[in-house]
Amino acid sequence: MAETKINVILIGDNQQSLAKQQAILSGLADCNCKIICSKTIIDAMAKQTQDEQAIVIINLTDNSSKELQFLNELNGKKAAIIIIGDHDNVSLLSLAIRAGVKDFIDAKNYEAQLNTVFCNVKKSITQQYKSSNTKRINAIINAKGGSGASFIASNIAYVLSKDTHLKVALLDLDVQFGSIGLNFDKTPKYTLTDGLAVIDDLDAISLEAYMVKYSDTLSLLMPSPTEILLPGEVDVKALQKMLDLLKTQYSQIIVDLPRLIDPVSSIVMEQANQITLVLQQSLAQFRDGRRLIQILNKDLDMPLEKITIVVNRYDPKNSLRIEDLKNIVHHDQVYTITNDYERVASASNLGVPLCESSPHSKIAHELKELAKNLGQLEFETPKKKSFNIFSWF
Ligand SMILES: Nc1ncnc2c1ncn2[C@@H]1O[C@H](COP(=O)(O)OP(=O)(O)O)[C@@H](O)[C@H]1O
Ligand SMILES: [Mg+2]
Repeated sequence: MAETKINVILIGDNQQSLAKQQAILSGLADCNCKIICSKTIIDAMAKQTQDEQAIVIINLTDNSSKELQFLNELNGKKAAIIIIGDHDNVSLLSLAIRAGVKDFIDAKNYEAQLNTVFCNVKKSITQQYKSSNTKRINAIINAKGGSGASFIASNIAYVLSKDTHLKVALLDLDVQFGSIGLNFDKTPKYTLTDGLAVIDDLDAISLEAYMVKYSDTLSLLMPSPTEILLPGEVDVKALQKMLDLLKTQYSQIIVDLPRLIDPVSSIVMEQANQITLVLQQSLAQFRDGRRLIQILNKDLDMPLEKITIVVNRYDPKNSLRIEDLKNIVHHDQVYTITNDYERVASASNLGVPLCESSPHSKIAHELKELAKNLGQLEFETPKKKSFNIFSWF
């Protein structure tokens, strides 16, 4: 979405009330407002509701049931829709809910409600635009092999793609022991290496051919599971171009890094909004964590606020506490992810992210909280919230 200007379309069959409504709306300063007055409003409804940057305010006419029925069956509605109609006609309620409208205002009393309802809807869709325009790169790295960095990267990417409906790319840069493919049970037809080799000829659209789609909103870019690259074989400039291309198409980019400080990981970490360091609850790993933080902060000049620590396979009974970790690493941005061998193994056997196979488990909730913070997004709240049914009665 290129810009955040909202189109406001007032549809109805009474020019006078439409003009009055336009005058009532005070939040129109940064909107384009248009009035469409017609005896048969259905055509205008069909056309105007396809615009995802629009708020369409529909004044139902004497044909209200038919109009809502039409709206309900209409495909590809993207606009936020507000209805103005007869509150006493309760059968309209279920039709309106099924049609996915944001709110329903009583025609007899619209002067009192219209401005507040409009401003709330406008605020909510402006936030959505902001989220979809935000490009974030999250780099995930472990303090020791097997700490769970790839498991966490996979679940963060899955949660962000599922709960925000934003486009997410998960990039596996572990060109020797990459395991993202296994986590999603996917094998790439064309690999990351293939894409990097021809990067100068690619545009954002042709790059998609090198990615494997896990869902409409989550795409994976992976190295070959059979051909192993040596450190230094990834062309840093090509990778930079690839990241630039990905940024034009994806709101969130998650990079699963190998435990290696080299020009490739440095360039990713430099560009990342956040670097997550995954370690487990042992003294040796806490010490490795401290060493890595020192390298990132002192040698690579990354601010400490850019670093998040995740203690994976966390066990509250372990004598080594989070406070000990904070003292050892001198850093207090720490998350914990529960040790849950059974669920993690079952997800791995199924070849799906744990947050898909056990979405209501404690570990899934912890991963979701982490994803929310790393993605810096407000997750979508249930639709009910924006549709105030109870104000009808
Ligand atoms: N919280 C957890 N509970 C139980 N098992 C886990 C957890 N996190 C990761 N694992 C398992 O640990 C193993 C190593 O994880 P992986 O993500 O490949 O580590 P890394 O990428 O850091 O080398 C995998 O088999 C994974 O399923
Ligand atoms: Mg890994």
